[in-house]
Amino acid sequence: MSKKIILITGASRGIGFATSRYLAGEKHQVLATARSGELLDSLKSYSKRIDCVACDLLDAGSLQKIIDYVRDHNMEIQALIHNAGGLINKPFRELTDQDWNTMWEMNVLSAVRLLRALLPFFAKQAHIVTIGSMGGFQGSSKFPGLSAYSTSKGALSVWSECMAAELKDMGISVNCLCLGAVQTEMFQMAFPGVKAPLKSAEIAEFIGDFALKAHKYMNGKVLPVALGDP
Ligand SMILES: NC(=O)c1ccc[n+]([C@@H]2O[C@H](COP(=O)([O-])OP(=O)(O)OC[C@H]3O[C@@H](n4cnc5c(N)ncnc54)[C@H](OP(=O)(O)O)[C@@H]3O)[C@@H](O)[C@H]2O)c1
Repeated sequence: MSKKIILITGASRGIGFATSRYLAGEKHQVLATARSGELLDSLKSYSKRIDCVACDLLDAGSLQKIIDYVRDHNMEIQALIHNAGGLINKPFRELTDQDWNTMWEMNVLSAVRLLRALLPFFAKQAHIVTIGSMGGFQGSSKFPGLSAYSTSKGALSVWSECMAAELKDMGISVNCLCLGAVQTEMFQMAFPGVKAPLKSAEIAEFIGDFALKAHKYMNGKVLPVALGDP
């Protein structure tokens, strides 16, 4: 019999780490991934319900490790929380083509490649939750230095809507959560010295519950999840 899992990317620290812990604590089987094997080992030590695969989402050979792991362990993906992301904080005039490509690769193409490779392993009625950003939510406040990041997150939101339409016939729902400020390393890079109103463990509970239940009520939604500005 196949093993139902929740796959979480970007799980070595911050929001992905906390969400993995939360869901394992709620007795769900989690497959957690990120580049740092050492940090994933510390995540794994919290629960026997957490399996980990160290993988660089920007490297096709490395990405294959997740696919092999899922197939070899006869896993069926009940939910995918695509949380991995990167941020460049630079004024527009200093941003190079390479910076723009990095943001596109990390925040959009990584999700595209992962989903394309994993599609055969999804359960019926599965839920894909992409982690967007308030910076990429139309009409939200924008901040200097974050144009490449926010643009890539905006693209991730639109891609999520497109996937919801395209995967509906397979019974897969896709929703995007555009997060506001959460106290993590990435938040410090974006807003040095600013204190976020939420900790990772607090938003983890919301993301985890959303991934488990929200697809019963919505599909193709891009939702702002923020207490303030930023
Ligand atoms: N914190 C906020 O205020 C905030 C607000 C809006 C949206 N978000 C979004 O929430 C998500 C999580 O953010 P966070 O604040 O928790 O960030 P974080 O602490 O910087 O964590 C990012 C995660 O992504 C992983 N990652 C980065 N590059 C990777 C790659 N090439 N391959 C595989 N994994 C990679 C990192 O692990 P390794 O370095 O080990 O690979 C890490 O686990 C991101 O998508 C972010 O854009 C955060």
